[in-house]
Amino acid sequence: MLAFVNINLLLLFFAIILALFVSKYITRPLELIRYSISRLQLGGVNTKITWERDDEIGQMVKEYNRMIDELSVSADLLAKSERELAWREMAKQVAHEIKNPLTPMKLSIQHLKKAYDEQVPDWDKRLQRFSKTMVEQIDNLAQIAGEFSDFAKMPSSINGLLDLRTFVPDIMEIYSGIDKVKIEHIFPNDSEQLWVIADKNQLLRVFNNLLHNSIQSYSKEQTAIIQIIYEKNHDFVKCHVKDFGCGIPEKLKSNIFSPNFTTKTSGMGLGLSMVKAIVENMGGSIWFQSEENQGTTMTFTLPAHIEKHENIER
Ligand SMILES: Nc1ncnc2c1ncn2[C@@H]1O[C@H](COP(=O)(O)OP(=O)(O)OP(=O)(O)O)[C@@H](O)[C@H]1O
Ligand SMILES: [Mg+2]
Repeated sequence: MLAFVNINLLLLFFAIILALFVSKYITRPLELIRYSISRLQLGGVNTKITWERDDEIGQMVKEYNRMIDELSVSADLLAKSERELAWREMAKQVAHEIKNPLTPMKLSIQHLKKAYDEQVPDWDKRLQRFSKTMVEQIDNLAQIAGEFSDFAKMPSSINGLLDLRTFVPDIMEIYSGIDKVKIEHIFPNDSEQLWVIADKNQLLRVFNNLLHNSIQSYSKEQTAIIQIIYEKNHDFVKCHVKDFGCGIPEKLKSNIFSPNFTTKTSGMGLGLSMVKAIVENMGGSIWFQSEENQGTTMTFTLPAHIEKHENIER
């Protein structure tokens, strides 16, 4: 009886040893596969598992290795399509920004030619003004093209000191040659300069876009009257671009800064989203007030340059 119990105990002992051995033999490779799967990364470096035998585990490892190959192909495709999408987006923005000043530039040239043909008396002065604003706009176009060729630089901004009192009328001079467009600059009463810290080219883009929208808010028959009103407080200079055009319907107001939102057949809906990004990038903010059939006022702020003596006085 005792011998029978002993044999049973011995068998049980062997069974346990065997079970432990078999489970370790099976779980080790499974654990390895689990570990490898947990470290899988899309777009990262995934190492394959080497398994010599062609057993069930070998089949699983083969499947795992095949999955890694497929994953790496998908990751490459994804990266490529992401790059293409980013380029398309960039190309759209560049095309948009280049298109913007072209019309006023063309009209300005035609206007100048007409003045020359008619031998207007202030021809010299007109030529001076024309060349100055033309050079500004061309520089801006060149910068956009430069940024396009160096993707990583977008949106680069080189902030400097600008006096809005002279800078804006100069760059907006190009619009003065357009029939049915009247731009009026309204400065604060004092003759103080309006120094801001901003990027010259990007500020030009802000005004080009806002003016373009204001001009487009008038019908062809109307004269587009646009007022640029400047206000200064201690930290900021405020610019209001005010038109008396079609206005923005209440239900569209929340969308106008969204990229790709447009109500125009020829529009891309990029202008205001870009303007907002530029203004915020320069440390300012933008908002608007609008009433249908009354007009729209776009207001943005730019950090004012505070002169040293002002600091001392305070
Ligand atoms: N001054 C404005 N008066 C009336 N509506 C405006 C004015 N500014 C913007 N909007 C409205 O906001 C929308 C978005 O303007 P945004 O400048 O972003 O794009 P867009 O002018 O339609 O196209 P894009 O600027 O790309 O040529 C316009 O389609 C228009 O409906
Ligand atoms: Mg626009």
